[in-house]
Amino acid sequence: MPHQVQGVIAAKKGAPVSLEPIEVPDPGPGEVLIRVQACGVCHTDLHYRNGGIGDDFPYLLGHEVAGIVEAVGEDVTNVATGDPVVIAWRAPCGQCRSCLRGRPWYCFDSRNATQRMALVEGTTLSAALGVGGFCEYTLVHALQAVKVAAGTRPEAACLIGCGVMAGYGAAVNTGMVAFGDTVAVIGCGGVGSAAVAGAAIAGARTVIAVDLAPHKLEWAKQFGATHTVNAGECDPVEAIRELTGGLGADLVIDAVGLPQTYRQAFMARDLAGRVVQVGVPPDPAMTVELPLGELFGHGGSLRSSWYGDSLPTRDFPILVDLYSRGRLDLDAFVSETIGIDDVEAAFTKIERSEVLRSVVVF
Ligand SMILES: NC(=O)c1ccc[n+]([C@@H]2O[C@H](COP(=O)([O-])OP(=O)(O)OC[C@H]3O[C@@H](n4cnc5c(N)ncnc54)[C@H](O)[C@@H]3O)[C@@H](O)[C@H]2O)c1
Ligand SMILES: [Zn+2]
Ligand SMILES: [Zn+2]
Repeated sequence: MPHQVQGVIAAKKGAPVSLEPIEVPDPGPGEVLIRVQACGVCHTDLHYRNGGIGDDFPYLLGHEVAGIVEAVGEDVTNVATGDPVVIAWRAPCGQCRSCLRGRPWYCFDSRNATQRMALVEGTTLSAALGVGGFCEYTLVHALQAVKVAAGTRPEAACLIGCGVMAGYGAAVNTGMVAFGDTVAVIGCGGVGSAAVAGAAIAGARTVIAVDLAPHKLEWAKQFGATHTVNAGECDPVEAIRELTGGLGADLVIDAVGLPQTYRQAFMARDLAGRVVQVGVPPDPAMTVELPLGELFGHGGSLRSSWYGDSLPTRDFPILVDLYSRGRLDLDAFVSETIGIDDVEAAFTKIERSEVLRSVVVF
């Protein structure tokens, strides 16, 4: 019997989201039904609603989920009913050309539920990032459900499902922060602040937080920023150079995803420095022009970071441990808890840069 619940739906490009009755099927083979306890509002949900990611409307938004396994389908062995889990939007298949070459964090055929959730009138829904978490129940592939320690606060744990994992991993996995590195992070929302935290935990000597909003810079200090730069008040490239002895940073992370922030990241690094782009461009048609002489002459690397190059089954438990031992303050990312009917208002708060994370609780 399908479950009828309310879900947050983006019906068409740019339109405000609405709460609609949806049907969530019982789990089939390899699928699990999750009772959602908490789901963070990530900027990527806003990109979906604005048509910046795809055109497969209507979308069921939400993809930062902590919950409890409510029911499992046939052949599910990795989780059982009652397990507390965080949902991953990457579940490596083990068989694609990337998995077979030992790079499952790039898996090109990540697993999702086979059955589709739908509006009660029958229209099938596209689940954002293969999750769809702004609803009381959601259906995912069993391999998307990563068991976490019982008792982990869902409002905090859910953030590991996207923003915190993406930012932390951008620094630690993709950026490979080494002990003593200088690191700058442009854009200190949920993702960028997690990159700041990851850099600090990995032993960076200098962590420069760059944002336009003064309160974001204050919060970044809590996560381990040693210096802050208000990009609205000065040239962030010059400021990062000054703070790194005139050299530029070993690693600059762009956690905004705009042409200008990417160019700043490119220009603000030391010789042989690294750029990691984790911010998603709001418009896929955007382009960036870079001086070819600098591109060669500066050396180093320019990398994109999908989900922080994470392996959820390896990395989620590590982040939960860091949290429970007081080394990664996930609670500090939770600016507010909200109801399921407050997602559109939370988008406005993202646009005004007022919050790190609004988290829907059920
Ligand atoms: N690569 C991935 O796997 C992945 C995962 C999650 C989110 N994302 C993307 O990461 C980006 C950040 O997500 P978020 O949830 O932290 O968003 P957010 O809106 O909370 O944070 C963005 C921050 O950037 C700041 N900012 C905006 N323009 C700036 C500029 N010109 N210079 C400096 N700072 C600026 C804002 O003030 C804000 O603090 C989004 O594009 C999101 O889609 C990527
Ligand atoms: Zn694969
Ligand atoms: Zn996200």
